[in-house]
Amino acid sequence: MEWNRTSKALSQVAVDAVILFVTDTLHLSKEGKLIDLRLNHYLSQLMDSEEITGRFEECMLLHTRGEIAAQKVVLVGMGNEKKWSPQRFRQCVAIGARKAQQSGVKELAVSVPEFLEKRFGSADLVQAVVEGVELGCYELPNYKQISRNTRIQKVVFSEQTLSKTSIEVGMERGRVFAEASKKASTWCHEPSNHLTPTVLANYADEVAKRCGLEIDIVDKDRLEALNAHAFLAVAKGSAEPPKLIMLRYQGAPDDEEVLGLVGKGVTFDSGGLQIKPHEGMEKMKSDMSGAAAVLAAMDAIGTLKPHCNVVAVIVSCENMTGSHAYRPGDVLQTMSGKTIEVIHTDAEGRVILADGLAYARKLGATKLVDIATLTGAAVVCLGREKTLMLGNDDTLLQDVSVAAGLAGEPVWKFPLEEEYDYYLHSDIADVKNEGGRAAGAIQGGVFLQHFVEDTPWVHLDIAGPAFSQKDSGIYRKGATGAGTRTLIHLALQMGL
Ligand code: BES
Ligand code: MN
Ligand code: ZN
Repeated sequence: MEWNRTSKALSQVAVDAVILFVTDTLHLSKEGKLIDLRLNHYLSQLMDSEEITGRFEECMLLHTRGEIAAQKVVLVGMGNEKKWSPQRFRQCVAIGARKAQQSGVKELAVSVPEFLEKRFGSADLVQAVVEGVELGCYELPNYKQISRNTRIQKVVFSEQTLSKTSIEVGMERGRVFAEASKKASTWCHEPSNHLTPTVLANYADEVAKRCGLEIDIVDKDRLEALNAHAFLAVAKGSAEPPKLIMLRYQGAPDDEEVLGLVGKGVTFDSGGLQIKPHEGMEKMKSDMSGAAAVLAAMDAIGTLKPHCNVVAVIVSCENMTGSHAYRPGDVLQTMSGKTIEVIHTDAEGRVILADGLAYARKLGATKLVDIATLTGAAVVCLGREKTLMLGNDDTLLQDVSVAAGLAGEPVWKFPLEEEYDYYLHSDIADVKNEGGRAAGAIQGGVFLQHFVEDTPWVHLDIAGPAFSQKDSGIYRKGATGAGTRTLIHLALQMGL
């Protein structure tokens, strides 16, 4: 998509459509009022007849029939002013842009209303527009022989209401954030026969080369030497070789703080010997969503170059049922020295993350954030609308919440207290990997906590938001790339 600015007023730009916003008190922006005037009060009439109410996410497409330069107007409701935020604005933009794109629009102009600008920074709002249009209109690739879809190709902002600098700054940032989310969702969408751990490692190589990041791809032999036997055990059921991908961004060499991002990269999760039910198993191609978020975030961090240090560890393998597959009852030695009793081969994410987290600590991470499609229980608890968050450090929990808030990728904190420890007590090992259905998502956190020791740490279970059942706000149906923009914001916040 091409992004531009124009010195013309929005009523004068010759695009296919202009997106305008209206409040639930039926207030239009200055640009909106001008267009309404030029349309002989058509918008006002629709408000009078209550066909337009301004409620949040309401969306109407109108033809201008030559009264202004643009062929169509898309009017989106911003809802109640008490709830306004750049996040909600981004959602409204996405809905409006999608409507426009579905009606064949190729060139678009988007208004940034001054009633929002009074409350929020204009660069942030411009960034929200870019993310909203880019993500809301993104079409995941398909493998059809013929596929035809018109796409939005150009978008413009008007300098009549926005300063050049805020347009430029917001545009640049928005594009980097949106590109990262799109990459993550595309990787998650790729089928498992295309995207193997080896292919993921190749993608990481491209990212590292382009952004000048340090990279190390640790293969099976070196993983043996590192005693990553938990990770290796999960990988053994598959013919695909496992890869541990390390990326390092050094933006503040004098700073001792190093943010460690650890991603679950299971490129297909069959469940292992305790195989999953057939229904929905195809979705387990996206069990590497955490890894995708980490890799895409590293791409953005390497591009934006904030003043902070980040080390990324991606543990990537398949969870299959081959003759070398790990079994229930097996006891695994981990990199940390602690042992795991395997109760359930489908609780593989936590097993590989045990070694991933230990390795990130070894590499000098002073605070850790892991991100994973870890439990179906998280989906049961919070649905697809929120990420389940757990952690051992209030400051870091707060930092992640703020970053998630900025990204519009909501998180909800769950308790991680000693009273849950007994669920994973093993008679023969330091910890077992599954302890029944109760508190399923919390058990994931209880398990991982064993491998972070005293390092401040937050666990993000994105099993819900990684996949959307429908087009909704900025997310399209299918893989979403959820978590990516949260991680970028987190790194940027650290670099302030
Ligand atoms: N990858 C799954 C979790 C998952 C479920 C992600 C649904 C996305 C959508 C994970 O490896 C898994 O299988 N978890 C088990 C854990 C259980 C055996 C303790 C689960 O949630 O059933
Ligand atoms: Mn599993
Ligand atoms: Zn899994």
